[in-house]
Amino acid sequence: MSTAKRLDNQHGNSDLGILQKLLMELTKPFVGREEEAKVILLALLTREHAALIGEPGTAKSALIRRAAQLLDMKCFIYLLTKYTEPAELFGPLDINALKEGKYVRITSNKLPEAEIVFLDEIFKANSAILNTLLTIMNERLFYDGYTEIRVSLWSLFGASNEVPQEPELEALYDRFLLRHYVKPVSDELWKSLLKKAWEIEKNGYPKPEIVIDKSVLQKLQSAVFEVDLSGVEAKLLKLFSILESKNIHLTDRRKGKALKVIAANALLNGRLKAVEEDLIILKFVAPHDIDDFEKVNIILAEELKTPYKYLRELEEIQMSVREVGNYIASFPVVNSRFVEYRLLEIYRDLESTRDRVLSMVKETEDESVHKKAMEVVEQINELLEKIRRKIEGR
Ligand SMILES: Nc1ncnc2c1ncn2[C@@H]1O[C@H](COP(=O)(O)OP(=O)(O)OP(=O)(O)O)[C@@H](O)[C@H]1O
Ligand SMILES: [Mg+2]
Repeated sequence: MSTAKRLDNQHGNSDLGILQKLLMELTKPFVGREEEAKVILLALLTREHAALIGEPGTAKSALIRRAAQLLDMKCFIYLLTKYTEPAELFGPLDINALKEGKYVRITSNKLPEAEIVFLDEIFKANSAILNTLLTIMNERLFYDGYTEIRVSLWSLFGASNEVPQEPELEALYDRFLLRHYVKPVSDELWKSLLKKAWEIEKNGYPKPEIVIDKSVLQKLQSAVFEVDLSGVEAKLLKLFSILESKNIHLTDRRKGKALKVIAANALLNGRLKAVEEDLIILKFVAPHDIDDFEKVNIILAEELKTPYKYLRELEEIQMSVREVGNYIASFPVVNSRFVEYRLLEIYRDLESTRDRVLSMVKETEDESVHKKAMEVVEQINELLEKIRRKIEGR
């Protein structure tokens, strides 16, 4: 039996359900931070690193700190400046050993011993710490020229106000498989922002109702590799080409690791099979520059059958059904072959529109799409009934 199924069977409540709980706990104190929370969970599920980029005061730090609280794991949190010394992150050199001519770092409670690391203002990293960070992130090896230690880093989270411009930071930036541009909340959420921020100011952050340890995370991570990806590979390759043709270049590292994030997204949605919708995670993997975030979103919205796309199509259908309804209402009683013919034509069109709506329901598992589709089908049915009555002269 697959790990994920086993996870489901062993725990009545399903370990996959834990992911939903974690997501809820993570977003609980905040307004409009669902996407950001998802990025953090995707990083944890894939044992990858994530960078949140955005203007000051958008809860980047607060969110990552909250994630650290949900994990019963060794954490190391530090705010970098241009002047941060290696000793601040990796521990001081042992003076006694030094007297004997040996270089030994005292790494206790420092980054090399942490499983979850949060480096705020990550792209302030200077050359004195950069190379050490690169091998820690990629090879999970701490090497500072003197000491080599295998580290148990699970994920490193970074926050920054901007995308790094300096070429020497490119390798560091590339190690963040997941990148997300955090936007201030939109105006319809300002009211809830007041409420939530008031709550935080008054009572602090709510104590998490769920905390998971490393063994749970390990189980979830191994379940990622059991997700069936056969249905999405071809489309993923096509998307690589499309992105490349629009000047969005993914390094080979990112291309290679994309499948892992797709699988993690399927798991996050309670599935052991990846579907086209899961390819949406490319919006966290493909962008490099600030402009790319929007560009990639647009490309994916065009190329993927996402719930958003279905909902938009359903809105359009709903609007035209309403227009047809008004048109019919203004129709005179059926007094000519022409009117009857016209009504029959509309009737047939509506029937095929209804078929299209029903096929959408089959194409996606998204509940909001299903709900909206049923609403539209009902509207169409009512209208069909009206037309029938008109034709029959009732
Ligand atoms: N979406 C939000 N929901 C609730 N509170 C928020 C939200 N955005 C910001 N806040 C409040 O603003 C505070 C500032 O957030 P935080 O320090 O995490 O921002 P930041 O993005 O890390 O900023 P900087 O880039 O300056 O470090 C949070 O502690 C929180 O109280
Ligand atoms: Mg911050």
